Amino acid sequence: MQIKTFCGEAIAPYLDDLARLRIEVFRAFPYLYDGDPAYERDYLKTYARSSESLFVLALDGERVVGAATGLPMADETDAFKRPFVEAGWNPEEIFYFGESVLLPAYRGQGLGVRFFDEREAYARRLGRFRYCAFCAVERPADHPLRPEDFVPLNEFWSNRGYRHQPQLRTEYRWKDVGDEADSAKPMSFWIRELS
Ligand SMILES: CC(C)(COP(=O)(O)OP(=O)(O)OC[C@H]1O[C@@H](n2cnc3c(N)ncnc32)[C@H](O)[C@@H]1OP(=O)(O)O)[C@@H](O)C(=O)NCCC(=O)NCCS
Repeated sequence: MQIKTFCGEAIAPYLDDLARLRIEVFRAFPYLYDGDPAYERDYLKTYARSSESLFVLALDGERVVGAATGLPMADETDAFKRPFVEAGWNPEEIFYFGESVLLPAYRGQGLGVRFFDEREAYARRLGRFRYCAFCAVERPADHPLRPEDFVPLNEFWSNRGYRHQPQLRTEYRWKDVGDEADSAKPMSFWIRELS
């Protein structure tokens, strides 16, 4: 296994890999995303436009089996910046993590921890960020599609030094598996102050 990082324009050859992994991994609970290539093209534009976006890729030989992403929050869409601005945070101080997606066969070997370490190291290198942040979908505990053995990632994130900020919220729309149309999903943020 190899971990490689790419930033700015160098991410372009890997946009399709990220779309493929997002569609495959986010089909599972709690995301339940009924993958849509047109949605992906639109979503991925934000990374392609940012000169400081970051892809951390996990490669098994030539095959991309996992990816974690980030970009300055200032380059994010208004939907993501708004709750921070309204709560008095300065988006210029925040490096935002888009997603971590790793194929199930490769989990539990420390790659997810590397995804955090690499992104935090990059944010530190850029020199102007005080915080790293990401958001996660909120699903009801009794959701009918929640697997019995589902383990939330909250403890994994706490162990990485992130604190849940349930008051910092936004919504994101996508179509759930089995639904006819897209619907708004409540998302709340997690933040860590960089040391
Ligand atoms: C999030 C995700 C990328 C984590 O990946 P992962 O590679 O399984 O995570 P890790 O193996 O690094 O860490 C899991 C645990 O194993 C531990 N671990 C670290 N190195 C390890 C190793 N060599 N062997 C076994 N376990 C190890 C980690 O310390 C961690 O435990 P901790 O939280 O108690 O410290 C993966 O679960 C995933 O793709 N989930 C689905 C998508 C998702 O929900 N993404 C998050 C929202 S975008």
